[in-house]
Amino acid sequence: MATLTIPEIGPKQVLVEVKATSINPIDWKLREGYLKQMFDWQFPIVLGWDVAGVIIKVGTEVTDWKIGDEVFARPDTTRKGTYAQFTAVDDNLLAHKPKNVSFEEAAAVPLARETAFQALFTHGKLQSGETVLIQAGSGGVGTYAIQLAKSFGAKVIITTSEKHFDLVKDLGADEIIDYRTEKITDKLKDIDLVIDTLGGINQEEAFSIMNPKTGRQISIVGESENTKEIIKDTNLQFESIWLQPNGDNLQKIADLMTQNKVKSIIDSVLPFSKDSIVKAHQISATNHSTGKVVIKF
Ligand SMILES: NC(=O)c1ccc[n+]([C@@H]2O[C@H](COP(=O)([O-])OP(=O)(O)OC[C@H]3O[C@@H](n4cnc5c(N)ncnc54)[C@H](OP(=O)(O)O)[C@@H]3O)[C@@H](O)[C@H]2O)c1
Repeated sequence: MATLTIPEIGPKQVLVEVKATSINPIDWKLREGYLKQMFDWQFPIVLGWDVAGVIIKVGTEVTDWKIGDEVFARPDTTRKGTYAQFTAVDDNLLAHKPKNVSFEEAAAVPLARETAFQALFTHGKLQSGETVLIQAGSGGVGTYAIQLAKSFGAKVIITTSEKHFDLVKDLGADEIIDYRTEKITDKLKDIDLVIDTLGGINQEEAFSIMNPKTGRQISIVGESENTKEIIKDTNLQFESIWLQPNGDNLQKIADLMTQNKVKSIIDSVLPFSKDSIVKAHQISATNHSTGKVVIKF
């Protein structure tokens, strides 16, 4: 494990002593170099963009936060991430950690949960009573998306495999498609909103099961090769999004957690060590984890 200096903070930042962080697929994708075009960073790079911890220093222009506050955040995407004992966070990205959840449960939330929130509501414009298909409902983003959509009054259909059926039912799924044995194109039609977490052929096939008048598909994994051609001359809408971290969004999510309306699903909690980070990346990179992998300090 490398020894780094404690990060300097700017006037509108706080320094957080990290109690827990969590793994997202972006971590190992970045490590493998897949996102080089988006983030042309110099080494060393500290990975990790989820944090739950305690504020130990505040910048000179920070007014809403104080030393000792228990917080969580999806910090800005910089090369100084959260796999570290201390991390700097912009004050507008912070939210109060709900008192009824642990640091580990809180660290699982920010990136995945804000993505689910923005895909469903900010971009997907989900309305109560609409039907939403959430691809990979048992994943980090999917487990939060099910709960958010359900609590908003939507009918929730998800894809996953059989080992996750009980979990996703418990989270609120109304209908489950086992992607290993069934095809969405045989089972579904008139879907108002599709949340695409898989891309490729999954994204392209989903257009045929969407409501021709109201159908929207929001992808968090980029646009597939034939998407433009498929939706040309139709009313179907498509958008590929990238999470914009937002402390106000996260505070809304924290409030839902305080009311026990949403919970974190955690695949595993590992201690902060080089071996654990390797293991955690291996679990996430299988694409078959259940909810989130968390690192505890
Ligand atoms: N644009 C953004 O801002 C943004 C933000 C967050 C994430 N992402 C991206 O979104 C993707 C999903 O992230 P995540 O954290 O939710 O992933 P994840 O936690 O790794 O997803 C794992 C889950 O996917 C399920 N799964 C795997 N293949 C499937 C298939 N063909 N059909 C249905 N379910 C399948 C697995 O269920 P089984 O074990 O049952 O197979 C597993 O539970 C990643 O590529 C990530 O990089 C983008």
